[in-house]
Amino acid sequence: MVLTFLTVVAVIASIAEGLGFDFFDADLQLTEQDIHNFKAIEFASAPASEIEKTNPRCKNFPGDGAWPTETEWSQLNSSVGGALLKPVPPASVCYHSSPAFNEAACNFLLNNASRTSFYFDDPVTIFNYWAQGNTCLPAENPTGNCTQGGYPVYVVNATSVKQVQAAVNFARNRNIRLVIKNTGHESVGRNAGAGSLSIWTHHLKTFKFLPDYKQPEGNYHGPAARVGAGLQAWEAFRQALKLNITLTAASCVTVGSYGGWISGGGHSPLSSKFGLGADQVLSIQAVTADGRYITADPQTNQDMFFALRGGGGSTFGVITSVIVKAHPPINLTIASFTFTLGSSLSTEPGPSVTITDKDTFWKGFNTVFQFGITTVDAGGYLWTFGIPITDVSIQMQVQVQMPGQTPTETAAFVKPLLTSLNTIGIPVAITNPTTIVYSNQTGPISGGPGNGRFASRLFPRRAYQSPTLFNAAMAAARAAIEGGYLFHGLNMAPTLRAAGFPASAGVNPVWREAVMHADMFDPTSLSSATPAEAEAAHTRLNAFMAPLRAATPGGGAYLNEADLEEPNWQQSFFGTNYERLLQIKRLRDPWQVFWAPATVGSEDWIVTTPNQVPSQNGRLCRVSGES
Ligand SMILES: Cc1cc2nc3c(=O)[nH]c(=O)nc-3n(C[C@H](O)[C@H](O)[C@H](O)COP(=O)(O)OP(=O)(O)OC[C@H]3O[C@@H](n4cnc5c(N)ncnc54)[C@H](O)[C@@H]3O)c2cc1C
Ligand SMILES: *[C@@H]1O[C@H](CO)[C@@H](O)[C@H](O)[C@H]1NC(C)=O
Ligand SMILES: *[C@@H]1O[C@H](CO)[C@@H](O)[C@H](O)[C@H]1NC(C)=O
Ligand SMILES: *[C@@H]1O[C@H](CO)[C@@H](O)[C@H](O)[C@H]1NC(C)=O
Ligand SMILES: *[C@@H]1O[C@H](CO)[C@@H](O)[C@H](O)[C@H]1NC(C)=O
Ligand SMILES: *[C@@H]1O[C@H](CO)[C@@H](O)[C@H](O)[C@H]1NC(C)=O
Ligand SMILES: *[C@@H]1O[C@H](CO)[C@@H](O)[C@H](O)[C@H]1NC(C)=O
Ligand SMILES: *[C@@H]1O[C@H](CO)[C@@H](O)[C@H](O)[C@H]1NC(C)=O
Repeated sequence: MVLTFLTVVAVIASIAEGLGFDFFDADLQLTEQDIHNFKAIEFASAPASEIEKTNPRCKNFPGDGAWPTETEWSQLNSSVGGALLKPVPPASVCYHSSPAFNEAACNFLLNNASRTSFYFDDPVTIFNYWAQGNTCLPAENPTGNCTQGGYPVYVVNATSVKQVQAAVNFARNRNIRLVIKNTGHESVGRNAGAGSLSIWTHHLKTFKFLPDYKQPEGNYHGPAARVGAGLQAWEAFRQALKLNITLTAASCVTVGSYGGWISGGGHSPLSSKFGLGADQVLSIQAVTADGRYITADPQTNQDMFFALRGGGGSTFGVITSVIVKAHPPINLTIASFTFTLGSSLSTEPGPSVTITDKDTFWKGFNTVFQFGITTVDAGGYLWTFGIPITDVSIQMQVQVQMPGQTPTETAAFVKPLLTSLNTIGIPVAITNPTTIVYSNQTGPISGGPGNGRFASRLFPRRAYQSPTLFNAAMAAARAAIEGGYLFHGLNMAPTLRAAGFPASAGVNPVWREAVMHADMFDPTSLSSATPAEAEAAHTRLNAFMAPLRAATPGGGAYLNEADLEEPNWQQSFFGTNYERLLQIKRLRDPWQVFWAPATVGSEDWIVTTPNQVPSQNGRLCRVSGES
C-alpha cells in the first residue's frame, strides 16, 4: 500500500521535472527483511584487519565443497526477484554435443547475429573470444565440445540497486569471483571470469533530465542528466537529441557510456572541447565492496569520486547511475578524404585518390599527422586509419572532425592541409564537409565479437612537437603498417582546461598533456592459433610497439583500448595516480571482491589458465599464501 503510494508520488515528481523514466524502482535498496530471509546476502561487518587471515587462497569454484548449493543459488534468485540467470555461451547452439544444439539458431549466429543487437542483449558475450578462452567458438561443424570457459556461471540481470547489493554481498560472503559486465565491449577480459557470478548492468537504463542541477558549494549550476549505468551511447544520443542538449559518448554507438567508458576515461570527438567522459561526471551512485549504496561527489566520498572517474572499471564498486553535465546542442562537421598507395594514379582531384609513389604516400602520411596539433588546438578530433590492404597497397583514411564549426568553416580549416598534400603530389580535394547535430548519430546498433589483439599509446604534446621524436614515431607507425598492422590515430587534447569542473580525477594524468591516442591492431586471429603462435604474435606486436613507446617519452596507454600485457601497465595506464588509486582500492575493498586483470591492485591475484594466452578461463587465486 505504502509502496504503491510512494511509486505514484515518484512518478508524478518525475513527470513534473520533465522527461525521462522514473528512478524509483531502480533506486530500491536491500532491506533488513531481505537479509533476514537469506543471511548470505548480509552486509560486510568484519574489520579489515581480520580479513587477510580468514580468506582462502582461491575464490570458490564450481565443484568445490564450499561452492554454494543449488538451494542457496535459488535463495539468491529469490532475493534478486528471479533475475538470476544461468546462461550458456551463445555458440553452444552450434555444438551437436550440447543440449542447446539448434541448427537454425546456429545459422542465425553465423550469418546474421552480428548485424543485429543480439550480442548486446546476451548476458555473457564479451567482444574478444580469446579472453573467454576460445572454448565455444561459433562454427558450422565445430570440433570438440562447447564449455563455459571464461564466462560466468551465474548472472544477475540487474535493474535495481537492491539486486546489485545482493550480488556483491553474496559473492563477498561466499568467496565467489565477482565480475561486472555492461556491453562487453572491453576486449581483454575485465568483464568475464570462470566460476564467477556476474552483475550484468545492461538493463540499468533509467534516464532523467535535470534542467537546473546545482552542485552544493555552487561549483556547477546548470543542466545535467541522471543516467543509468546501462545506457549505451546511442540511447544517450537519442535522449539528448530529444532534449536539445549534448551528452558526450563514444563514437561507436553501442559502447556503454556510463560503465567502462567513464570509469576508464572515455574519449569522443568532443574531447578537445569538453574533456573526457570521466570529466562529465558530477555525481556517482554506486554499490561498494561492503555492499553499501553510496553517493560520491566532490563533497561526499571524495576518494571514490576520484577513483571511479578514470581509475578503471571493475575495481572500486559497481556504478548504478551517474549525474553528468548536459551541454548546449552542438554540431559536428566532418571533412573526410582517403589516399591510397596503389598501381594507378588518380588524375582528377577528389576526396578519394590513388597515388603510385611510395615516398609521396609516406610524406602525405606525416603531413596529415602534423595537422593533428592544429586540429586539437582548434577544439577538434583528427581520426585516421592507416590500413595495409595488400603487400603493395596501403590506404590512409582521414576525417577532420570539428565540433561547433559550419561546413564553410571546416572547409577553410582543412584547406592548408589539402594544399600541403596537393603540393607533394596527392590531389585530394573536399567539396563539402558533412555536418550533423552531434546528438543525431546514427551508427549501427549491432556488432559481434572478434578475436584479435591491439596495443595503445598516448602521445604527449612535448614529444609530438619535437621533430626528432615525431619523425621517430612516424617511422614506427610506418614500420607497423608495412608489417601488417592497422594504425588507428585519434588526435585530441582533453586538457584540464577543456575538462573544467570538477577536473581532478583518477584518469591517467598523461591524458591531460596528450595530443594523440593511437592503437595498433594486429589482424592475426587467435581463433585457431596454438599457444606458441599466439605468444609469437604478441612478441611481434610488442616489438613494433617498442619504437613507438621510445618515441613518446612520458607517454602512456589508454587502459580501455590496450594490450593486457602492456609492459609496466601500472605506470602506462594510471601514471602518477597509481599509488593514490591503490590506497583507495585497499581501503575500500579489503576483501578484494572486485577483481579484473590489469586493474588497480590486481597484482595480488592470478587466473590460472591452461595456456599462455591470458584468458579468464581459470580459477582465480592469490599469487601467494596458504592453499
Ligand atoms: C568497437 C569499439 C569502439 C570503441 N570506441 C571507443 C571510443 O570511441 N571511445 C572510447 O573511449 N572507447 C572506445 N572503446 C573502448 C570502450 O570505451 C571500452 O571497451 C569500455 O570499457 C566499454 O565499456 P562498457 O561499459 O560498454 O563495456 P564492458 O566491457 O561491459 O565493461 C568495461 C569494463 O568496465 C567495467 N564496468 C562496466 N560497467 C560497470 C559499472 N557499472 N561499474 C563498474 N564497472 C563497470 C567492466 O567490469 C569492465 O571492466 C571502443 C571499444 C570497441 C570494442
Ligand atoms: C530464477 O527465478 C526465475 C523466476 O522464478 C526463473 O525463471 C529462473 O530460471 C531462475 N534462475 C535460475 C538460475 O534458476
Ligand atoms: C539472415 O538474414 C537474411 C536477410 O538479411 C534472411 O533472409 C535470413 O533468413 C536470415 N537468416 C537467419 C538464420 O535468420
Ligand atoms: C565431449 O564430451 C563428451 C561427452 O560429454 C565426451 O565423451 C568427449 O570425450 C568430449 N570430447 C572432447 C573433445 O573433449
Ligand atoms: C533482463 O531483464 C530485462 C528487464 O527486466 C528483460 O527485458 C530481459 O529480457 C532480461 N534478459 C534476459 C536474458 O533474461
Ligand atoms: C536548442 O537549444 C539552442 C541553444 O541552447 C537554442 O538556440 C535552440 O533554439 C533550441 N532549439 C530548439 C528546437 O528548441
Ligand atoms: C547544425 O546542423 C543542422 C543540419 O544538420 C543545421 O540545420 C543547423 O543549422 C546547424 N546549426 C548550426 C549552428 O550550424
Ligand atoms: C537527424 O538526422 C536525420 C537524417 O539522418 C534528419 O532527417 C533529421 O532532420 C536530423 N535531426 C536533427 C534534429 O538534426
